[in-house]
Amino acid sequence: MAPAPVYANPTSHLSNGHSNGLKKPHSDGFGTRAIHVGSEPNSATGAVIPSISLSTTYKQDAIGVHKGFEYSRSGNPNRDAFEATLASIEAGGAHGIAFASGSATTATVLQSLGPNAHIVSVNDVYGGTFRYMSKVASVNQGLETTFVDLENAEDDTILAAIRPNTKLIWIESPTNPTLRLIDIPRIVSLARSHPSSPLVLVDNTFLSPFYSSPLLQGADIVMHSLTKYVNGHSDVVMGALILPPHHAELTSKLRYLQNAIGAVPSAYDCWLAQRGAKTLHLRMKAHGTNALAVAKALQVSPYVEEVIYPGLRSHPRNDLAWRSLSPHARKFIESSEKSIDEEGGFPYGGMISFRIRGGIAEAEKFLTSARLFTLAESLGGVESLAEHPAKMTHGSIPEAERALLGIGDNLVRLSVGVEEVEDLVADVEQALEAAASVSL
Ligand SMILES: Cc1ncc(COP(=O)(O)O)c(C=O)c1O
Repeated sequence: MAPAPVYANPTSHLSNGHSNGLKKPHSDGFGTRAIHVGSEPNSATGAVIPSISLSTTYKQDAIGVHKGFEYSRSGNPNRDAFEATLASIEAGGAHGIAFASGSATTATVLQSLGPNAHIVSVNDVYGGTFRYMSKVASVNQGLETTFVDLENAEDDTILAAIRPNTKLIWIESPTNPTLRLIDIPRIVSLARSHPSSPLVLVDNTFLSPFYSSPLLQGADIVMHSLTKYVNGHSDVVMGALILPPHHAELTSKLRYLQNAIGAVPSAYDCWLAQRGAKTLHLRMKAHGTNALAVAKALQVSPYVEEVIYPGLRSHPRNDLAWRSLSPHARKFIESSEKSIDEEGGFPYGGMISFRIRGGIAEAEKFLTSARLFTLAESLGGVESLAEHPAKMTHGSIPEAERALLGIGDNLVRLSVGVEEVEDLVADVEQALEAAASVSL
């Protein structure tokens, strides 16, 4: 069994035990917070579900005297409510700031660094983030980015990449699509040990606040493309930042930019995503157990060369995956007999990549033969999706670069949904059989 995780600051909501003979006050768990925080019954009407407030402007009783809202870009009831939900489900968070997309979130954070800043970024960062760093911010604000293999680089290499003007280290873990894991506490302690003391941001989109709590591991900022797991129904594009209590000043700066730049989500999208977030814990448990089952089916298939799923014991960073589990995910895994397999594998999000035996023809046949895994970009919805990174999500990366990152023609990425697990396994098996027939 994998070793126990280490946390800088375990959340109190899991520990209702006794200490010094005194019972600790009860704190609500993840799912309870997701359902109730920001969704309190309306005191005027009794409505259990928040209304959608479409008004763009708000009456003032005298100049500057109002009920907390002036103009909808600066704040509106649905966005405020959802930001409170986000701050409460991202463990260690106190401040949530929502944006019109994950990409708008990235742009706003990078703009907050000002002119001529330098950042260190994980090398296989999401393509859109790479594009904004290297093609937009570099031109518009003189931002320089050093891309580093934060998974494998020695401490000295990482420290040497940090300059006097390095303001931020950008982490994504697991990376996309090869699911490499970054040791967040290690990067945080390197950042803190350097005189420049850059902030550490973690894009937590792939694991969602359910499986990973980077703020508890010392990160300064968490970002999400809420388009993925948090909304979870493939019908909203949105993003967010969540910051811990001690970053009130940084939060004010980012809120100022949220309003000044204005890349804000609509009230309707906030309402939809808040509804989605209420079932995040249920969906993530199902995504994780389904993904583990599909990964194991792929692992025993003669038509598969390699399966990449950090929850599998065979993943090179499986111990790190275990150590990095959030307290709530670990509680779920340890309390559910079925969730740890005979080899010690466990659910770790819903994303799997695998190398099919063969090349582009076999990969394409698999993708077009799957019945339940729809061939489409994106991830994190209740429905299963499959895609070909080299030709689709990562097609804009030059071939040589893709080869270095391990994104070959036989790599397939799955976003495992929450359908019945037997149906998903059967679908993958029949699509593999179909793919194998290509070379007969
Ligand atoms: C890890 C990650 N970060 C950021 C983004 C950008 O988010 P959005 O598509 O909501 O702009 C994506 C989108 O795929 C992503 O996968």
